[in-house]
Amino acid sequence: MQTLEATAKMMVADGKGLLAIDESTGTCNKRFAKWAIPQTAESHRLYRELIVNTPGLGESISGAILYDETIRQEMDDKTPFAKALAARGILPGIKVDLGAKEMAAFPGEKVTEGLDGLRTRLAEYVQMGARFAKWRAVFSMGDGTPSHGCVEANAHALARYAGLCQEAGLVPVVEPEVLMEGDHTLDVCSEVTERVLRTVFREIYAQRVKLEGMILKPNMVLSGVDSPHQGSIEAVADATVGCLLRSVPAAVPGVVFLSGGQSGKLASARLNAMNVRYKLRLPWELSFSFGRAIQEPALEIWHGKQANVIPAQEALYHRARCDAAARRGEYTAAVEAAHRESAAHHMATNVYVGSAQ
Ligand code: 13P
Repeated sequence: MQTLEATAKMMVADGKGLLAIDESTGTCNKRFAKWAIPQTAESHRLYRELIVNTPGLGESISGAILYDETIRQEMDDKTPFAKALAARGILPGIKVDLGAKEMAAFPGEKVTEGLDGLRTRLAEYVQMGARFAKWRAVFSMGDGTPSHGCVEANAHALARYAGLCQEAGLVPVVEPEVLMEGDHTLDVCSEVTERVLRTVFREIYAQRVKLEGMILKPNMVLSGVDSPHQGSIEAVADATVGCLLRSVPAAVPGVVFLSGGQSGKLASARLNAMNVRYKLRLPWELSFSFGRAIQEPALEIWHGKQANVIPAQEALYHRARCDAAARRGEYTAAVEAAHRESAAHHMATNVYVGSAQ
């Protein structure tokens, strides 16, 4: 338990957050298809190598979440990815759920699978060097959804997964995601997120998961993407923190947000507003575990081409530093611009050692 607590604290160490690069093969291929990047295991490897080899990434990133394919792959220099991350001062993590699947008798809703055989898979990931794990459940917003049955089933699975992780010595990142799709209001998202989180923590308690040795990865409380009333940055910050204060026990060491389809700048600005307005009265660290909000500009620049590796790393380094600033409540438009300038200088003075093409 002491190791779990120490690892959890490192994951939300001051000024740092997590980077999600654990897109499943299907999701990764979808993102690559948008830029006509070849959809092969080697292409996935080259892209993840580019990310892991970004000079100075460990200044802002405490841990990176890998996908099963990646944790079995090697960098160009034959170092396995988990070892390469550890060598750069970044904790290796692993996505262990097997995806959100259509839920029987609940049309339009999903339940995340992967509990059968999980104990054996976790033991193998520990051997490979993983220090923490992730399991994502999704909740769609609609007429009558998320239903009671869907919330209960996913919360139970999250708690069962978390218990198995702690038994294996891995810190569970518990990710219940209320999706942004829809035209719901900020208030409705807040109500649903609170209901989901209360259910998750009831199950976490029932399954004897140690709160001190886990990390929560929730959505921010946002209006639906199709809602004409998008809340201000401050309104989002207030709604999100209020919802978390009502539903997340104080013994949890850290809350790290997913980005869920928000732009990189908005995700930074909203996280920043939460820390500016509330940092001194929060019982947990409030940080990030972004995927798209950190990666998107880098992926677009890379385009699958070796010649674009350094500019892509520069973009990744820039976004990660902006999020690290937001996590401290120090992100402003001026910081966004200053970090852009210094990222260029940083890349010009640091050598890249991989060969993504
Ligand atoms: P996004 O930040 O792109 O939502 O990804 C985070 C994540 O890990 C989703 O499971």
